[in-house]
Amino acid sequence: MLESIQNNDFVNILTGRRSIRQYDEDVKISEEELHAMIQEASLAPSSANMQPWRIIVVHSPEGKDKLRPLVQFNTRQNDTSAAMLIILGDTQSDLYVEKIYDTAVEQGKMPKDIRDKQVAQILGMYPQIPRELKIEIAKIDASLFAMQLMLVARAHGYDTNPMAGFERDQVVSAFDLDVNRYVPVMILSIGKAKDEGHESVRLGSEEITFWR
Ligand SMILES: Cc1cc2nc3c(=O)[nH]c(=O)nc-3n(C[C@H](O)[C@H](O)[C@H](O)COP(=O)(O)O)c2cc1C
Repeated sequence: MLESIQNNDFVNILTGRRSIRQYDEDVKISEEELHAMIQEASLAPSSANMQPWRIIVVHSPEGKDKLRPLVQFNTRQNDTSAAMLIILGDTQSDLYVEKIYDTAVEQGKMPKDIRDKQVAQILGMYPQIPRELKIEIAKIDASLFAMQLMLVARAHGYDTNPMAGFERDQVVSAFDLDVNRYVPVMILSIGKAKDEGHESVRLGSEEITFWR
Protein backbone atom coordinates (compact mmCIF):
# COMPACT_ATOMS: atom_id res chain seq x y z
CA MET A 1 0.00 0.00 0.00
CA LEU A 2 1.13 3.56 -0.85
CA GLU A 3 4.12 2.19 -2.75
CA SER A 4 3.32 3.35 -6.25
CA ILE A 5 2.24 6.87 -5.34
CA GLN A 6 3.53 9.25 -8.02
CA ASN A 7 1.99 12.47 -6.83
CA ASN A 8 1.98 13.38 -3.16
CA ASP A 9 1.05 17.02 -3.71
CA PHE A 10 -2.31 17.43 -2.02
CA VAL A 11 -3.08 20.80 -3.59
CA ASN A 12 -2.41 19.42 -7.06
CA ILE A 13 -4.44 16.29 -6.39
CA LEU A 14 -7.38 18.31 -5.10
CA THR A 15 -7.44 21.25 -7.49
CA GLY A 16 -6.39 19.23 -10.54
CA ARG A 17 -9.14 16.63 -10.27
CA ARG A 18 -11.60 16.93 -13.12
CA SER A 19 -14.02 14.45 -14.55
CA ILE A 20 -12.09 12.85 -17.38
CA ARG A 21 -14.21 11.21 -20.04
CA GLN A 22 -11.54 10.19 -22.55
CA TYR A 23 -8.50 8.10 -21.72
CA ASP A 24 -5.36 6.84 -23.42
CA GLU A 25 -6.49 3.39 -24.51
CA ASP A 26 -2.90 2.12 -24.58
CA VAL A 27 -2.46 2.63 -20.84
CA LYS A 28 -3.69 -0.33 -18.82
CA ILE A 29 -3.55 -0.53 -15.02
CA SER A 30 -2.28 -3.77 -13.51
CA GLU A 31 -4.49 -5.78 -11.18
CA GLU A 32 -1.85 -5.24 -8.51
CA GLU A 33 -2.07 -1.47 -8.76
CA LEU A 34 -5.88 -1.51 -8.88
CA HIS A 35 -5.84 -3.59 -5.70
CA ALA A 36 -3.41 -1.10 -4.12
CA MET A 37 -5.65 1.85 -4.99
CA ILE A 38 -8.75 0.07 -3.70
CA GLN A 39 -6.91 -0.76 -0.47
CA GLU A 40 -5.82 2.85 -0.04
CA ALA A 41 -9.32 4.17 -0.73
CA SER A 42 -10.60 1.72 1.89
CA LEU A 43 -8.98 3.92 4.52
CA ALA A 44 -12.20 5.93 4.18
CA PRO A 45 -14.39 6.12 7.27
CA SER A 46 -17.61 4.12 7.49
CA SER A 47 -20.51 3.64 9.83
CA ALA A 48 -19.30 1.39 12.70
CA ASN A 49 -16.30 0.65 10.46
CA MET A 50 -18.42 -1.88 8.57
CA GLN A 51 -16.89 -0.90 5.21
CA PRO A 52 -19.90 -1.81 3.06
CA TRP A 53 -18.26 -0.79 -0.23
CA ARG A 54 -17.79 -3.49 -2.86
CA ILE A 55 -16.32 -3.05 -6.31
CA ILE A 56 -16.84 -4.81 -9.62
CA VAL A 57 -13.65 -4.16 -11.58
CA VAL A 58 -14.66 -4.27 -15.23
CA HIS A 59 -11.35 -4.40 -17.07
CA SER A 60 -11.56 -7.25 -19.59
CA PRO A 61 -12.80 -6.64 -23.16
CA GLU A 62 -15.65 -9.08 -22.45
CA GLY A 63 -16.62 -7.19 -19.31
CA LYS A 64 -16.51 -3.86 -21.15
CA ASP A 65 -18.68 -5.29 -23.95
CA LYS A 66 -21.21 -6.45 -21.40
CA LEU A 67 -21.25 -3.07 -19.64
CA ARG A 68 -21.39 -0.94 -22.79
CA PRO A 69 -25.18 -1.15 -23.42
CA LEU A 70 -25.80 -0.37 -19.73
CA VAL A 71 -23.91 2.94 -19.48
CA GLN A 72 -26.29 5.18 -21.42
CA PHE A 73 -24.41 8.29 -22.68
CA ASN A 74 -21.15 7.24 -21.00
CA THR A 75 -19.83 4.85 -23.66
CA ARG A 76 -16.66 6.86 -24.34
CA GLN A 77 -15.50 6.33 -20.77
CA ASN A 78 -16.32 2.63 -21.07
CA ASP A 79 -14.48 2.29 -24.38
CA THR A 80 -11.30 4.17 -23.50
CA SER A 81 -10.77 3.69 -19.74
CA ALA A 82 -8.40 1.16 -18.24
CA ALA A 83 -11.29 -0.04 -16.06
CA MET A 84 -14.83 0.76 -15.09
CA LEU A 85 -15.27 0.39 -11.35
CA ILE A 86 -18.85 -0.34 -10.39
CA ILE A 87 -19.14 0.78 -6.79
CA LEU A 88 -21.71 -1.21 -4.85
CA GLY A 89 -23.11 -1.04 -1.35
CA ASP A 90 -23.44 -4.30 0.56
CA THR A 91 -26.67 -4.55 2.57
CA GLN A 92 -25.26 -7.57 4.38
CA SER A 93 -22.12 -5.91 5.66
CA ASP A 94 -22.84 -7.36 9.11
CA LEU A 95 -21.36 -10.62 7.78
CA TYR A 96 -17.89 -9.05 8.08
CA VAL A 97 -18.26 -7.41 11.47
CA GLU A 98 -16.65 -10.20 13.49
CA LYS A 99 -13.75 -10.48 11.07
CA ILE A 100 -13.12 -6.71 11.20
CA TYR A 101 -13.33 -6.41 14.97
CA ASP A 102 -11.36 -9.63 15.62
CA THR A 103 -8.57 -8.32 13.39
CA ALA A 104 -8.55 -5.06 15.35
CA VAL A 105 -8.02 -7.05 18.56
CA GLU A 106 -5.33 -9.26 16.97
CA GLN A 107 -3.46 -6.18 15.79
CA GLY A 108 -3.66 -4.58 19.22
CA LYS A 109 -5.88 -1.78 17.94
CA MET A 110 -8.84 -2.54 20.19
CA PRO A 111 -9.18 -4.18 23.62
CA LYS A 112 -11.13 -7.47 23.61
CA ASP A 113 -13.85 -6.21 25.97
CA ILE A 114 -14.56 -3.21 23.74
CA ARG A 115 -14.69 -5.54 20.75
CA ASP A 116 -17.20 -7.78 22.48
CA LYS A 117 -19.41 -4.87 23.47
CA GLN A 118 -19.38 -3.23 20.05
CA VAL A 119 -19.86 -6.45 18.07
CA ALA A 120 -22.82 -7.41 20.26
CA GLN A 121 -24.30 -3.94 19.81
CA ILE A 122 -23.88 -3.92 16.01
CA LEU A 123 -25.07 -7.49 15.47
CA GLY A 124 -28.01 -6.87 17.79
CA MET A 125 -29.07 -3.80 15.86
CA TYR A 126 -28.14 -4.12 12.19
CA PRO A 127 -30.32 -7.10 11.24
CA GLN A 128 -33.35 -5.29 12.70
CA ILE A 129 -33.07 -2.07 10.76
CA PRO A 130 -35.24 -1.60 7.64
CA ARG A 131 -33.75 -2.43 4.26
CA GLU A 132 -34.12 1.22 3.15
CA LEU A 133 -31.86 2.31 6.00
CA LYS A 134 -29.31 -0.41 5.19
CA ILE A 135 -29.25 0.89 1.61
CA GLU A 136 -28.84 4.47 2.79
CA ILE A 137 -25.97 3.57 5.10
CA ALA A 138 -24.26 1.54 2.36
CA LYS A 139 -24.64 4.38 -0.15
CA ILE A 140 -23.25 7.01 2.21
CA ASP A 141 -20.23 4.88 3.12
CA ALA A 142 -19.59 3.69 -0.43
CA SER A 143 -19.75 7.30 -1.66
CA LEU A 144 -17.05 8.31 0.82
CA PHE A 145 -14.97 5.39 -0.48
CA ALA A 146 -15.59 6.50 -4.06
CA MET A 147 -14.47 10.05 -3.36
CA GLN A 148 -11.35 8.79 -1.67
CA LEU A 149 -10.68 6.48 -4.64
CA MET A 150 -10.90 9.44 -7.05
CA LEU A 151 -8.18 11.25 -5.10
CA VAL A 152 -6.08 8.10 -4.67
CA ALA A 153 -6.26 7.59 -8.45
CA ARG A 154 -4.77 11.05 -8.96
CA ALA A 155 -2.00 10.25 -6.53
CA HIS A 156 -1.22 7.24 -8.75
CA GLY A 157 -1.17 9.41 -11.88
CA TYR A 158 -4.63 8.46 -13.16
CA ASP A 159 -7.94 10.24 -13.51
CA THR A 160 -11.57 9.28 -13.04
CA ASN A 161 -15.14 10.19 -13.85
CA PRO A 162 -17.94 9.44 -11.41
CA MET A 163 -21.09 8.37 -13.23
CA ALA A 164 -24.72 7.99 -12.27
CA GLY A 165 -25.79 7.52 -15.88
CA PHE A 166 -26.17 3.75 -16.09
CA GLU A 167 -28.89 1.13 -15.80
CA ARG A 168 -29.14 0.69 -12.05
CA ASP A 169 -31.60 -2.12 -12.31
CA GLN A 170 -29.32 -4.19 -14.56
CA VAL A 171 -25.62 -3.82 -13.65
CA VAL A 172 -25.62 -6.04 -10.58
CA SER A 173 -27.30 -9.01 -12.24
CA ALA A 174 -25.30 -8.51 -15.46
CA PHE A 175 -22.17 -9.35 -13.45
CA ASP A 176 -23.76 -12.29 -11.66
CA LEU A 177 -24.14 -10.78 -8.21
CA ASP A 178 -27.10 -10.97 -5.86
CA VAL A 179 -29.48 -8.06 -6.57
CA ASN A 180 -31.10 -8.44 -3.17
CA ARG A 181 -27.79 -7.94 -1.45
CA TYR A 182 -25.80 -5.41 -3.50
CA VAL A 183 -27.01 -1.93 -4.48
CA PRO A 184 -25.29 0.06 -7.22
CA VAL A 185 -23.92 3.40 -5.98
CA MET A 186 -21.98 4.84 -8.92
CA ILE A 187 -19.52 3.84 -11.60
CA LEU A 188 -16.02 5.33 -11.75
CA SER A 189 -14.08 5.17 -14.97
CA ILE A 190 -10.33 5.18 -14.36
CA GLY A 191 -7.38 5.54 -16.68
CA LYS A 192 -4.68 7.81 -18.06
CA ALA A 193 -6.27 11.09 -19.10
CA LYS A 194 -6.18 11.84 -22.82
CA ASP A 195 -7.39 15.40 -22.40
CA GLU A 196 -7.47 17.89 -19.56
CA GLY A 197 -11.22 17.80 -18.99
CA HIS A 198 -13.20 20.98 -18.39
CA GLU A 199 -12.84 23.45 -15.58
CA SER A 200 -16.03 23.75 -13.58
CA VAL A 201 -17.32 26.24 -11.08
CA ARG A 202 -18.50 25.86 -7.50
CA LEU A 203 -20.97 27.78 -5.40
CA GLY A 204 -19.35 29.95 -2.78
CA SER A 205 -19.09 28.78 0.78
CA GLU A 206 -21.31 31.66 1.90
CA GLU A 207 -24.07 30.44 -0.42
CA ILE A 208 -24.18 26.90 0.93
CA THR A 209 -23.79 27.41 4.66
CA PHE A 210 -26.29 28.12 7.41
CA TRP A 211 -24.78 29.70 10.50
CA ARG A 212 -26.69 29.56 13.72
C1 LIG B 1 -22.87 11.10 -8.49
C2 LIG B 1 -22.33 11.69 -9.77
C3 LIG B 1 -22.85 11.28 -10.97
C4 LIG B 1 -22.32 11.74 -12.18
N1 LIG B 1 -22.75 11.21 -13.35
C5 LIG B 1 -22.11 11.52 -14.50
C6 LIG B 1 -22.41 10.82 -15.70
O1 LIG B 1 -23.24 9.92 -15.74
N2 LIG B 1 -21.71 11.15 -16.81
C7 LIG B 1 -20.74 12.11 -16.80
O2 LIG B 1 -20.14 12.35 -17.84
N3 LIG B 1 -20.42 12.79 -15.66
C8 LIG B 1 -21.08 12.51 -14.52
N4 LIG B 1 -20.73 13.13 -13.34
C9 LIG B 1 -19.66 14.13 -13.33
C10 LIG B 1 -20.15 15.56 -13.06
O3 LIG B 1 -20.74 16.08 -14.21
C11 LIG B 1 -18.95 16.38 -12.59
O4 LIG B 1 -18.42 15.83 -11.42
C12 LIG B 1 -19.31 17.85 -12.32
O5 LIG B 1 -19.76 18.47 -13.50
C13 LIG B 1 -18.11 18.62 -11.78
O6 LIG B 1 -17.02 18.50 -12.66
P1 LIG B 1 -15.64 17.87 -12.21
O7 LIG B 1 -15.87 16.46 -11.78
O8 LIG B 1 -14.77 17.94 -13.43
O9 LIG B 1 -15.10 18.70 -11.08
C14 LIG B 1 -21.28 12.71 -12.14
C15 LIG B 1 -20.79 13.16 -10.90
C16 LIG B 1 -21.29 12.66 -9.74
C17 LIG B 1 -20.71 13.09 -8.43
